[in-house]
Order: sequence, then C-alpha cells, then structure tokens
Amino acid sequence: MRTHYCGDLREAQLGATVSLCGWVARRREHGASLAFVDLRDRSGVVQCVVDGSVDVRNEYVLRVTGTVTRRPDGNENPEIPTGAVEITDCAVEILSASEPPPIPLSDRIDVDENQRLRFRYLDLRRERLQRNLRTRAKVNSVIRHSMESQGFLEIETPMLIASTPEGARDFVVPSRLKPGSFYALPQSPQLFKQLSMVGGMDRYYQIARCLRDEDLRADRQFEFTQLDAEASFVSGDDVRQFITEAVLAAAESVTGSRPAFLGDLTWNEAQERFGSDKPDVRFGMELVELTPLFATTEFNAFRAPCVKAIREPGGAARTRKQLDELTENAKRWGAKGLVWMRVEEGGVLNSPVSKFLSAEELSSIVSTLEAEPGDVLYLVADERRVVRHVLGLLRLALGRPPVNEGGLNFLWVVDFPLFEGIDPETGGPIPAHHPFTMPHPEDIGSLGGLGDVVPSADVLLASRSQAYDLVLNGWELGSGSVRIHRGDVQQRIFELLGIGEAEQQRKFGFLLDAFRYGAPPHAGFAFGIDRLVALLCGEENIREVIAFPKTQSGLDPLTNAPTEIDQRQLNELGLRLLPKA
Ligand code: AMO
Ligand code: AMP
Repeated sequence: MRTHYCGDLREAQLGATVSLCGWVARRREHGASLAFVDLRDRSGVVQCVVDGSVDVRNEYVLRVTGTVTRRPDGNENPEIPTGAVEITDCAVEILSASEPPPIPLSDRIDVDENQRLRFRYLDLRRERLQRNLRTRAKVNSVIRHSMESQGFLEIETPMLIASTPEGARDFVVPSRLKPGSFYALPQSPQLFKQLSMVGGMDRYYQIARCLRDEDLRADRQFEFTQLDAEASFVSGDDVRQFITEAVLAAAESVTGSRPAFLGDLTWNEAQERFGSDKPDVRFGMELVELTPLFATTEFNAFRAPCVKAIREPGGAARTRKQLDELTENAKRWGAKGLVWMRVEEGGVLNSPVSKFLSAEELSSIVSTLEAEPGDVLYLVADERRVVRHVLGLLRLALGRPPVNEGGLNFLWVVDFPLFEGIDPETGGPIPAHHPFTMPHPEDIGSLGGLGDVVPSADVLLASRSQAYDLVLNGWELGSGSVRIHRGDVQQRIFELLGIGEAEQQRKFGFLLDAFRYGAPPHAGFAFGIDRLVALLCGEENIREVIAFPKTQSGLDPLTNAPTEIDQRQLNELGLRLLPKA
C-alpha cells in the first residue's frame, strides 16, 4: 500500500511521488482551502498539505499519495527529521475513521497511568513507547546474536512445571486431567537449564518469560523476561565474560558506544563502601569506617561493634526538620538512632551529641571523613550489618542521581555469601542464592562433610559462595553462580539447610537423580531484560519498556485480568471457591 515510511522522507526524495500510510497526528487549517495534516507511522511524522475540504480528524487512518516538495523558506521545522520537506498534491484515501481518542497522544502531555494502561493500544502510538519497544527489540536481537556467536544454543523450556526454587510465590495452574493437582508457572528455567547440561547441550540460552507472584515495584512485574544462560565445563569467570560481552553489545547497539565495565567488587567491599550488594557508583558519599575512633568512648550510643558515617557535601543547608525526618527514616530502616553533625568553619562540629564526645574524637571524625565547612556528617552505630544497611539507604536517599544521568556503570559483585542469615524458626541457615550454588573453594573445607557437626552461625555466615551479580547504576540486573555438580557437596548443603531426605526427593528428586548419571561441572546466569532496557531507555519503571504490563496492584485495566471464571470451568477443574473474605 505504500512506497515509503513517513519518517524516512528527506530532501533526497524531492520530486518523487510517494504513497504513505499512517495516522493523523494533527490537523491545522491553512486558510480556507488548505489544511496541514501531520501523518504518523512507526518511523515518525511528515507534513502533508491536503485540500481543506477533506474530512479527516485526529487518529483517522489514511493512505496519502503525493509529491515530496521542499517546504517554503522559513517554514522548515528543525525539530523533526522530515522538517525540510512536505507532501503536496495529495490524494487522500480514508482507510479507517477514528472517534476522538480518550487520551492525548502527544508525548508532551502527562497521562494518568491507569488510563494509559486501559487504552494501551493508543498509548503504544506515542513516541515514548514506540522508541522504547524499538530499543527492546534491538536489545533482544543483539543479545541473541551475541549468545549464538559465543556458541550458545537456544532451547525452550516448559511453562507448566512442578516448581522452581527462586524463593518467590508460585503462580499455579489447576490440572483438569488430574483434579486437585497443580502446575506451577516457572519462576525461572533454573532446573531445566541444569538438566539440559546433564543432557550434554553444553551451552544453553533462552530469552525466557518468568512468572513470580510477588509485590510489584518499579523494577518488578509478575511476568518478566530474562536472558537465561548455562554452560558446561566453564568457570564463573567464563560465564561473566559471556554475559559481559552480551550486555555490552546490547548497550552499544543503543547508545552507539561501548561502555567500559568497571570490573569486580567483592560483596564484602560493596557492603563496606556502599552499604549495598547493588552499589550505585555514579556518585561518591561512600561509607567511612569510624569504629576504631570510639574504642574507649564515653558516649554510650557509639560503644557498638561498628560505627560508620557518610558525608553529604553542602548538606548543612538542611533544616532541623529535614534532619529529624532523616533520623526517623533511619529508625524505620532499623537503626537505633542517627547522629548528624553540621560542619562549621574551623572544623567545629555542630551536633546535639557534640557535648558527649571528646575533643580528640570530634577532631578525628573531621579528619577521617575529610569534612569541609558546609557538610553534614551522618553517623550510625550498631551491628555491622545494620550500620551498612541503614547508611546504604541513607546514601541513596541523599545522593542518588536521576536514572538517566551519570552514564552506564556496569560492574560485577562477586563472592556473595553462601547464606544470607539464620532462620529464627529452624535455626538453620537460609541460602543467599539457591541451594545448588557451589561454595567458594576457600570456604568449602570449613563447612565439613556429610554427618559432621554443623559449624557455628559465625562460620556459616562468613562462608562465601561462587555466586555473582551484575549491577548497573544501583539496579541488580542479574544473578548467577557456579552450580554444585558433586553429590557429596549437595548432600552436605541440604544437611546444613535442614532439608531432609524426603523433602529433597519431593522437591528436587528429579535433579538429584539426574546428577547420579554424569553431571558436568556447570555454571550459569540470568539477567532481567526489562531492567536492562529500562536503564538503556532512561526509564524509572520497567512498565515503560513492556508492551502490555500490569498496574502496581497486578491488574490489567485493558482486559480486566484477572477475571472470575464460570461455574462450569470450576467444575471441570474440580475446584470450589471459598466465600469471599
Ligand atoms: P534471579 O532470581 O536473581 O536469578 O533473577 C535474575 C534476574 O531477573 C530479574 N527479575 C525480575 N525482573 C522483573 N520483575 C521481577 N519480578 C523479577 N524478578 C527477577 C532481575 C534479576 O536479577 N535462576 C536464577 C539465575 C541463575 O542462577 O542462573 C535467577 O532467576 O533482573
Ligand atoms: P539517646 O542517647 O538515645 O538519646 O541518643 C542521643 C542521640 O544519638 C540521638 O540523636 C540518637 O538519634 C542518636 N543515637 C542513639 N543511638 C544511636 C546509634 N546506635 N547510632 C547512631 N546514633 C544513635
């Protein structure tokens, strides 16, 4: 039906007769007999000069045939790529009429989120989503190409499965043929990709849809997409190389230049310096160690296992009210309190607690933090874990730049702990990644062997794993690990986790069985494509890079999902509903 896309026309086509198809973005009358119609398609807009009697309105679908002409002097529009030309002598064919659109389609006007999702097919016509979904398609394509050129084979894994150990709640699907039984939708292809390694596939990848029933946030949806990968006979370093190559190629395809990778940070260093396992390194304000300064302090609050501080340059302009609010936040995050100190001329510290600290302590605070007049210092004392957590959040609250500033800062966080804590109910450790993660070679000895006494909580919590995360500008993009392929190590981990024989068999029996028949050493990774694309597009919320997302409360205002199902369907599935609570 057409010879060109609207947005592609330039002076190179001057004089050509072209046919274009698209939507009326805008109509302006030009005197009594002519009208300007901006015709929009996926590629952009071009101005068409049509007869004023042609009855076309916003969002009508047209086929326009006319001549590419140079715009009269002074009428060029440098804001759009087609701004030097217009289409004249137009024959206009109306392919489809439109009612007045219920939401404005200009990118300059903010539209209520719910309305945008209710009329998503109109929202998709807006430039922002056109651009974002094009970027997403590009990223998928480049990632595919990169993984394939590195020898990875695309393998599709099932959607109706038993369950995956990713730690979120499952979405379940009732079975009609086996009433009372349920499939789970995959939280990830984790177990199947490991089975495909046992199956000799060597290098697997998939652009995989994953489903997790968890609370939604800016970087979380029920349904999301991972680049999922697994490889045999490789180290964790090798896997990080493969993934680095794929994400850098993706970033380059969007920005035009290959960003530098910032390298590796150990989990412990990330926590010590940034108070986070996904550090946003676009800005400073690092956590500074002060514990030794208060070894013999008279100030009770600072007689703690750990004291750290951050320095906010120029923060002294904050009002007392703001500082009180920050203190309240710190308490909500788990601190016992927050000490703030305004730095004045001559390094004098103005703070409600100055009077409790010695002159020596005050001057060491100033010198250790390299404090300057006009700064505010924030100090927290507590268990090391609490101090890092609270100051990490405070640092972000005070200094985090907007999502589209500061470039792309990719880095790897390595040597994650094997366990993230001790379960108060069972007394056993909680796996930080999943129970198939290989312990760090230097720490495996201290875990003991099958049947040995369980090491102390201190030893368990200090054990590192061969798990690693990919971080971009403070977002966790992805996670992976070297997997356990040795039966004895796996048995010991289950023992430490308190997962008995029966539970092992019930949950992962098929994987453990498979490992009895020659499991290759293997390692893998998955990163969130929604998150990567959002950051590449400078978007704060992954909804902006998903064609048909859910609202924050998990609803789809377009199709009204989730909906009730009728009694016949329930009967077929052998289900009876409880009365609504
Ligand atoms: P993990 O659970 O860390 O690891 O998930 C990997 C990445 O998937 C993305 N992601 C999400 N994106 C949007 N919405 C969500 N609800 C959501 N949940 C996760 C994140 C996250 O970093 N099987 C392991 C990987 C492995 O070990 O190979 C896994 O799924 O970007
Ligand atoms: P208190 O002695 O509890 O009245 O606290 C005196 C000041 O120290 C208050 O500003 C508290 O917010 C602060 N504070 C108390 N405990 C801590 C702590 N563990 N870390 C940092 N500041 C604290």
